[in-house]
Amino acid sequence: PNLKAMVGLPDFDWAARNYLPLLNYTYYRNGAAGESSYRNNLEVFGRYTFIPEVMNDVTKIEESLPTTILGHNFSAPFYISPCAYGLYGHPNAEANFVKGAAVGKILYIPSGYASLSIEEIHALKAEGQVVFQQLYLTTNDTETQSLFDRSKAAGADALVFTVDAPIFGSRHRAARLDWDYYHKLQNMTDLPIIVKGIMSAKDAKKAVENKVPAIVLSNHGGRQLDGAPSALEVAIDIYKEAPEVFNQTEVFADGGVRYGTDALKLLALGVKAVGLGRPFMYSNVFGQEGVERVIELFKKELAVDGANVGLGSLKDINPGFLNLSPNNWH
Ligand code: FNR
Repeated sequence: PNLKAMVGLPDFDWAARNYLPLLNYTYYRNGAAGESSYRNNLEVFGRYTFIPEVMNDVTKIEESLPTTILGHNFSAPFYISPCAYGLYGHPNAEANFVKGAAVGKILYIPSGYASLSIEEIHALKAEGQVVFQQLYLTTNDTETQSLFDRSKAAGADALVFTVDAPIFGSRHRAARLDWDYYHKLQNMTDLPIIVKGIMSAKDAKKAVENKVPAIVLSNHGGRQLDGAPSALEVAIDIYKEAPEVFNQTEVFADGGVRYGTDALKLLALGVKAVGLGRPFMYSNVFGQEGVERVIELFKKELAVDGANVGLGSLKDINPGFLNLSPNNWH
């Protein structure tokens, strides 16, 4: 496939479908059961429209893309979400994500089920590059301590604990957000532990009460519980029920983000950065260059779409730019 012909993120889905072995593509593309959460993740963005402002000076918007995530500087408010098995997309697997993220100066969060080991991935970092580490945990404390220690020794700057995938019995406890368990984990490492997979305003509030440094609103790309709400719906609920959450912890969100406008709708509500999963997995069909191209395209979209919404700076986005009454034409 021709990388130059890729002009938007959905094009990478097309490329992966056409150029990866069917089983590999299917692994990435999969949603749970009837895939209604998978589809809703994509379609929900079409149900909410902007309230744009005109006659604003928008010429400098590109300069406003850089942001911080847990105090670390990045060139844009989006990152590579943790997805298992990079090898299904390219022989260099996760090496392309860590190097592509370095070139594009965005955050990469490798999966605990990556094709390369924690040590191999972090060894590929550029000087000063910040990379977090996602982990799946069991209730075996010795194993957990070893994963924490390995991540720290490898140079991870934060850990991401995924709680929306209680596939094994041992994870059910975490999925109920047993917050005592969270405190126990936080006592086992000095790295910040982000909780990924928050799906309600109630749990977001509990995370804040328990002093979690950051949360990710996510239904795992619609791959776990069919019928789980999308990040945008959860962000709207938080905005309505407990808007202070957005100031009390860093809130990230993922699922179905494919266009600059999707990201802007989440940012408008107070989300600090958005994660993209499948678009990066698909882009790996082109290797590192594909990863870099997605970053470049998405930065451009954020700037162009932000300007069209009427933003002088991306930092000016706020809930006033979003019409919270959904249309029902989908
Ligand atoms: C995932 N996701 C995921 N999450 C996680 O915390 N650990 C993991 O190992 C994986 N593995 C994984 C594999 C594949 C193939 C996909 C598509 C997703 C979920 C991922 O981090 C993120 O939440 C979603 O991918 C976001 O949705 P989009 O951008 O793929 O629509």
